[in-house]
Order: sequence, then structure tokens, then C-alpha cells
Amino acid sequence: MTKRKQIALIGSTGSIGRKTLKVAKHLEEQIQVTALAAHSNIDCLEEQTKTFHPEIVAVYDKKCALELQKRTPCLTVLAGMEGLEAVASYGGIDLVILSLVGVQGIRPALSAIEAGKSIGLANKEVLIASGDLLMRRVKEKKTVLIPIDSEHSAIFQCLNGRPKTEVNRLILTASGGPFRDLPNEGLKKVSLSDALKHPNWNMGKKITVDSSTLMNKGLEVIEAHHLFGIDLKKIEVVVHPQSLVHSFVEFIDGSLLAQISEHDMAVPIQYALTHPDRKKGIVPCFDFRKYSKLEFSQPDYSRFPCLRLAYEAAREGGSMPCFMNAVNEVLVARFLRKALSWSEIGKKLETLMGQHKAFPMSDLETVFAVDEQARKQALTI
Ligand SMILES: NC(=O)c1ccc[n+]([C@@H]2O[C@H](COP(=O)([O-])OP(=O)(O)OC[C@H]3O[C@@H](n4cnc5c(N)ncnc54)[C@H](OP(=O)(O)O)[C@@H]3O)[C@@H](O)[C@H]2O)c1
Repeated sequence: MTKRKQIALIGSTGSIGRKTLKVAKHLEEQIQVTALAAHSNIDCLEEQTKTFHPEIVAVYDKKCALELQKRTPCLTVLAGMEGLEAVASYGGIDLVILSLVGVQGIRPALSAIEAGKSIGLANKEVLIASGDLLMRRVKEKKTVLIPIDSEHSAIFQCLNGRPKTEVNRLILTASGGPFRDLPNEGLKKVSLSDALKHPNWNMGKKITVDSSTLMNKGLEVIEAHHLFGIDLKKIEVVVHPQSLVHSFVEFIDGSLLAQISEHDMAVPIQYALTHPDRKKGIVPCFDFRKYSKLEFSQPDYSRFPCLRLAYEAAREGGSMPCFMNAVNEVLVARFLRKALSWSEIGKKLETLMGQHKAFPMSDLETVFAVDEQARKQALTI
């Protein structure tokens, strides 16, 4: 029997984390879950340890880590950011899946890169906040970074290692979210529960709200720019309500390649787990009788200012994407607490970005300082 690929899964209790474990169970002859980590959901973590028997677990919240250690005395339970970093660089791990949400993923990502591990990346905020620094280390350490976001997995699969000189355009598809066809007047009145009803995907709350404002697509444009080293002018967004074409790559000879599958994150997750091989999957085959229509249209940048702001932040570069990402995280959290209306997210983001003078960021401390400053400003505006 060939050696199983050992994985560490950071963010195992979330939407992507749980789906990753479902795929790992299906692939148990190839994949061994050696390490798990989450923020504080120790009930879910405890259940996961009973099924997957990891060697090591980390819990970011220190009290919860102590409680889990009490409940599972035979298991090594680490705590805090040090715990996440230890999991990301742990012994025989071949692949670290980063499926936590937010910039807390930066340090574990760097630990994994420094330890020479391959990374399966769902945690897009990491690349938005510190993409230049992170990608530099990825190149220096010759680490493999496999995207899990469905659009980037699609592009990764279509590119299939071809050089960027052969690429004419990357075209990211966007469902358009629940408010795709809602006029301006309607947008002023949308509620939290409206924003949390994504038409096609079942995801964590933060990314679901980001999808409703199209900020998620903006973050993905920046993510694609870093992951594939493609100029922003060559990265476009097209609205595709069916979410079946996950993205396109147009090559200079005029060929347009697309990756198509059911909208189920099991597909890109499995590709990251088995890359460069392919194994039988758990998602049903594409049914052309069920999907007879594929539509494409231009995004509306005036009704969805967050997408425009993300392009602007990316063009400006330096500290601006990091600043924008942190402000957005806080504004979305305020919206989730019903302390803000949906349309205020874009308005307040634009105001704060207008006040921030972008500057180059050469180290991690600067990234965290910009992030902290942005959060303070976004809490009080
Ligand atoms: N969901 C999707 O379909 C989808 C698709 C593409 C990309 N993504 C990206 O994937 C990432 C995860 O999204 P999600 O929807 O799975 O989020 P989610 O359901 O909210 O789950 C978040 C996960 O991160 C963990 N976490 C949060 N802060 C942490 C910390 N400081 N230390 C350790 N773990 C921490 C949570 O642990 P607790 O449960 O203990 O709080 C949970 O396991 C995001 O960056 C998102 O943009 C998601």
C-alpha cells in the first residue's frame, strides 16, 4: 500500500473544514488526517477527533483548549497562535489545509511555508492582507500553494502549469449573490436574513455577506492576482447566476478554457487533496438535462461598490488591500450584529479607504499594525 498523504486541517469546524473531512473520509485510503485546529468549537472538534484520531489538535482559545485537553487526556491539545503554528509545521504533515477565516491565518500559513509543507488555501484574507510577503516566501521556499476557492481552483486546473506569458485573461465568474437583480431602492432595505440566503452556496456567514456585496469577488480578484502573478488589467469578473462555470482562462491563441462542475466545494477541496492526481469524487456527474441554460453578464459596479473598491485597492497596492480587508471584516461583523445596514458596508468602506494613504509593507509587523489600525477605525465610523 502506498503511503497516505498526511494533512493538517486548520479551521476544521467551519463550512470548508467539515466538507474537507467529508472528502478525506471518502479518500481514506489516500488521506490521513494527522492534525486538526479550530478557534473554540470544542464540541465539534471532540467529535472529529473520535472519527479521525489525529495525533495533535490545536484550539486558538486557550480556555477551550484546556477544556478539550481535560475531556481527551490521551490527545495532545495545543493552545493559541503558537498551537496553530505548531500544527501547521508538524512533523510528517505533507499538506496543510488553511480553512480558517480572517487574517489569523497569516502566521500558520507562514509556518507551513517555512517548514516546506504544501498548502491548500481557502483562507483568502491571508493573501489579501499579506499577498506580496507570502508569495515571495512561497517562491523562495518552492512550496506548492493549491487554491481551494472554487474560482481559483478552476483557474489552476485550466492553467495546468502553462506560463503566464500564454495567458490573455483570467475571467472569474460571480453568482451575483442574492441581490443580483435588486434595484437601488431595494438594496437600502435588505435585512440580515436576506443577505445570508445565498442562491447557490451554503457557506460561513462572513463569506456569505461578502458574496451579497460582491466584496467576495473583489477579494478573489486580488487573490487571483497574487496566486497566478497575472496583471490586474487581465483579471475580469463576469456574472454567471448558475455558478456552474467556476472560472475561465483565455489564452493568447484565443482558446477559452473553463472548468465546470456542480456547485459543491467538495470538487475543489478534493482537487487540492489529491493534486496532482485525480480520484473518484463524491459529487454527482454534471447533468446537461438539469442545466440547459448558462447566462453571463457584466457586474454592476454602481450598485455593488465593494467590487469597484477592491479593484481600486488592488491597483493602489501596498497597505491598501490589507486596510480594506480589515475594515470590511469589521463592517461585516457589525452588520451581522445588526449594528449597521447592508448598504452602509460599502459607504463606510469607501469613506475609510479615502482617508488611508497607502504605503509599502515590507514585514509582517507592518501588516498587523495596518490591520489593527483599520479595525479601530471601522469600529467607530
Ligand atoms: N464556505 C465556502 O464555501 C468557502 C468557499 C471559498 C472560500 N472560502 C473561504 O474559506 C475560509 C473559511 O470559510 P468558511 O465558510 O468555512 O468559514 P466558517 O464556516 O465561518 O468557519 C471558520 C473556521 O475558522 C475557524 N477559526 C476562526 N478563527 C480562528 C482562529 N483564530 N484560529 C483557529 N481557527 C479559527 C473556526 O473555528 P470555530 O468553529 O471554533 O470558531 C471555523 O473552523 C474563508 O476565508 C472563506 O472566505 C469559503
